Amino acid sequence: LTSTAKETERVESEYLFLRRLILIAGLQLGYLEVVTSLWLPKKNVFVTGGAGFIGSHTVVELLNADYDVIVIDNFVNAVHGSDGQAPSLLRAQQITGKKLTFYQCDLLNKDDLSMIFKKHKVDFVIHFAAMKAVGESMQKPLFYYKNNIVSSINLMEVMSENGVYNLVFSSSCVVYGNPQYLPIDEAHPTGNVSSVYGRTKYALEQMFEDICRAEKMLSEYLHLILLLELTAYTCTSFLQVYNLGTGTGYTVLQLVQAIEKVSNKTVSYRIEARRLGDIPSMWGDCSLAEKELGWKAVYGLDQMCEDFWRWQSKNPTGYRCHVEDKHLASSSEVINTTNGHLNGVLC
Ligand SMILES: NC(=O)c1ccc[n+]([C@@H]2O[C@H](COP(=O)([O-])OP(=O)(O)OC[C@H]3O[C@@H](n4cnc5c(N)ncnc54)[C@H](O)[C@@H]3O)[C@@H](O)[C@H]2O)c1
Repeated sequence: LTSTAKETERVESEYLFLRRLILIAGLQLGYLEVVTSLWLPKKNVFVTGGAGFIGSHTVVELLNADYDVIVIDNFVNAVHGSDGQAPSLLRAQQITGKKLTFYQCDLLNKDDLSMIFKKHKVDFVIHFAAMKAVGESMQKPLFYYKNNIVSSINLMEVMSENGVYNLVFSSSCVVYGNPQYLPIDEAHPTGNVSSVYGRTKYALEQMFEDICRAEKMLSEYLHLILLLELTAYTCTSFLQVYNLGTGTGYTVLQLVQAIEKVSNKTVSYRIEARRLGDIPSMWGDCSLAEKELGWKAVYGLDQMCEDFWRWQSKNPTGYRCHVEDKHLASSSEVINTTNGHLNGVLC
């Protein structure tokens, strides 16, 4: 809660406005699902950062849709089970009644990554692994640049070495910077970024564009030599960006009120100056995803808070077995705004 009193109402952001789910793919997962269920063998989806918040939820959807799922995570921002497993992924398997394959692997370790790609025939990659805290990124720039950028380069190299060209990349609305207009559509200029976290995402978007441009040139050249290869290469040269979100902006105070309503508790907060790197208001036009992917957000703020509170109440210490934050577990009147990152901790 970072704005001054006057500014608070203007500090609007669309929670879970991912922007820029980037598809580099010849086929879209939705269509593929229909096809695979008819006659193709099950496809393997490789999910990076799959023990994290969005990753573990995505894994549930993938398992339900009958994909074979291989997940890697290094636990830098997820709870590490005592048995080397990820509790969030054990839960995903429990919910779906299906198994997945998990490796504790740091994307910065290219050798480990290569070994996993040699063991499995990967059809698609969904890339979530990244550090994502705007404020922390300003304090630890080198860590963010290395973790987000070098690891993505390793991933792209290993994918290319193994002939895998289908990637969904989870970027961020922060690449739009301070909006020139609202709601932000995919044509809005990018690059005027105010945080290190945003700069890592923007740099990666540029990298993906460059890779696709180069692949496209290569495919045109190959076309003259070897027609057969054309199909494979044209698949690699398609890049599409989609905003994902509800299309509605909410203020920070609206979020506080919504949490108070569903939890029937008082949220303790202080109004302070905006954090370095924060954007005052931002919400997205997500109509392209609806038009082209048939994707539309079905839950609004109240439902999000209700689900969040139900989960938090049933899992007061998140996925951690031991109660480290006793006040989190036992607080009956006041929700403490713990500034943690780990799954399930109010942050
Ligand atoms: N949560 C949001 O609202 C939001 C919004 C926009 C974009 N995103 C993007 O979506 C992705 C997932 O976000 P999230 O909220 O689930 O974050 P998260 O921190 O819960 O998940 C990220 C996971 O990646 C893992 N990870 C990080 N670096 C790694 C590395 N080098 N090797 C292996 N694993 C690594 C972490 O341990 C963590 O489990 C991120 O790329 C983030 O930038 C999230």
